[in-house]
Amino acid sequence: VRHFITGAELTPGELSQLLDRAAQLKEAPASSRALAGKSVAMIFEKPSTRTRVSFEVGIVELGGHPVVLRSDEMQISRGESIRDVALVLSRHVAGIGMRTGSDDTLAELSHWAQVPVFNMLSPSHHPVQVLADLQTMRETFGDIRGRVLAYVGDGNNMARSLAIVGALAGVEVRIASPPEFTLEESASATLFTDPFEAVRGADVVYTDVWVSMSDDAATAAARRAALGPYAVTDELMAAAGPGAVPFHCLPAHPGEEVSESVLYGERQRAWDQAENRRHAQKALLELLLG
Ligand code: CP
Ligand code: NVA
Repeated sequence: VRHFITGAELTPGELSQLLDRAAQLKEAPASSRALAGKSVAMIFEKPSTRTRVSFEVGIVELGGHPVVLRSDEMQISRGESIRDVALVLSRHVAGIGMRTGSDDTLAELSHWAQVPVFNMLSPSHHPVQVLADLQTMRETFGDIRGRVLAYVGDGNNMARSLAIVGALAGVEVRIASPPEFTLEESASATLFTDPFEAVRGADVVYTDVWVSMSDDAATAAARRAALGPYAVTDELMAAAGPGAVPFHCLPAHPGEEVSESVLYGERQRAWDQAENRRHAQKALLELLLG
């Protein structure tokens, strides 16, 4: 059984083929019936707009049946164990996705599930977003090996997944964060504290929210104060150079991590990233469940 928890489960060759396949599926969304006769469960412990819609519509396009579950409506909320949920769902569905506020929950689920488990966002990882981001980079630049992606902001799940999955694709990933909200020293990304230094010569300038769903609300004010100088503005984009494009995984908070002019500017790729979630995830589901 193959799971997809951090993205590092894929080989570079598999990732490259997955991105080829995602482009084909974008050209012809109704061309694959890889999930005909199969159901896929998705458990949400946290809110979602893009992840839910892109997976749900994508599974239908593949001929499958999505079963969307909110954990607060499941027996989990009354103390049923993740082990038992994994064992029971495995008798009904071909795969299980989960968005959770605990990486341990996902580890427990994938340990007991007898079908593939895929991560739809956890406190430490958001790898399905990066599949769409790499597809969007390919659409913008063609060959992405050696291209530079500078992530500017909180050293969070997005930053970590960009470092891990970006490196698998041969992208040079830089992460610029304030020292108190930086990513751990990682083998696959170069860490910066100065955002202007990080974006110099970058092809993509990426940002994400300053306060994530799994963050303690009590830290929100401190995060906003520390992250203020890391906003992606026209000034920062100018430092990156004329060919650089801004990316955002969304949801955005214009006026915080990204200025309104950058978010709604002509070069912004966030809307393509959001669309590509569906195509890239369909390619992932074909690989894991097809
Ligand atoms: N980017 C992303 O995962 O969005 P949602 O939280 O709306 O699913
Ligand atoms: N870092 C954000 C990503 C949202 C898609 C969060 O975890 O809330």
